[in-house]
Amino acid sequence: MKLLKKGAEGDIFLTKHENVLAILKTRKKKQYRNQILDDKIRTGRTIRESTVMSEVKEFGVRTPLIYQVDPTDCAILMQRIKGSVVRDLSGKKLVSACREIGKITGTLHKNGIMHGDLTTSNFILSGGKIYTIDFGLSQRTTRIEDHAVDLRLFKEILNSAHVGMMKTLWSSFLSGYRSAVGPVRYGQILNHVSVIEGRGRYAQVV
Ligand SMILES: Nc1ncnc2c1ncn2[C@@H]1O[C@H](COP(=O)(O)OP(=O)(O)OP(=O)(O)O)[C@@H](O)[C@H]1O
Ligand SMILES: [Mg+2]
Repeated sequence: MKLLKKGAEGDIFLTKHENVLAILKTRKKKQYRNQILDDKIRTGRTIRESTVMSEVKEFGVRTPLIYQVDPTDCAILMQRIKGSVVRDLSGKKLVSACREIGKITGTLHKNGIMHGDLTTSNFILSGGKIYTIDFGLSQRTTRIEDHAVDLRLFKEILNSAHVGMMKTLWSSFLSGYRSAVGPVRYGQILNHVSVIEGRGRYAQVV
């Protein structure tokens, strides 16, 4: 088993499942957190992540197949998506990936799910298709406010990870999002993004 990534929450390993390469995602104990609470959080996120990853396939959002879930060890064994994370793309590929991410986000929202961690590292381009990962912070919600928070986070990420292309990428994302949710909902959500940005704590990005 090879360690691919040490994350804030857990580690990602490259391993094998029935002779094909697979990903093992684990969530480590946090010593600074109360043990009972920590177990609850880690187990909850593990179950949520694996459940939502399977559910969203129903409405056409591509995600890795889940092979095994171990709620006690807080581990998920899943299909390895071969490709590159959108964060590592550039130029036209990055622009069209952002449009696709917008469409995916809109599809999730239309079906009452907020992703909760919309960053360009949580989308993988593989064989010309975008796969969505990292659903540990996802929530079932149809509230405008929650959906706007998803958009606002993505905008912030563009401004830090892709600052030179921020405007192009943001409008590309928005056109994809609009195509999925329709003009009325789009207007409401975007309006609310401005409301969030108007609150002192968040400075407006661009
Ligand atoms: N199924 C998968 N196939 C291929 N690569 C994957 C897969 N799952 C995760 N990865 C890789 O591992 C990275 C981290 O995975 P993930 O985002 O699920 O974990 P995380 O601990 O929440 O990380 P972060 O704190 O960076 O969000 C991804 O950005 C991706 O590069
Ligand atoms: Mg991630």
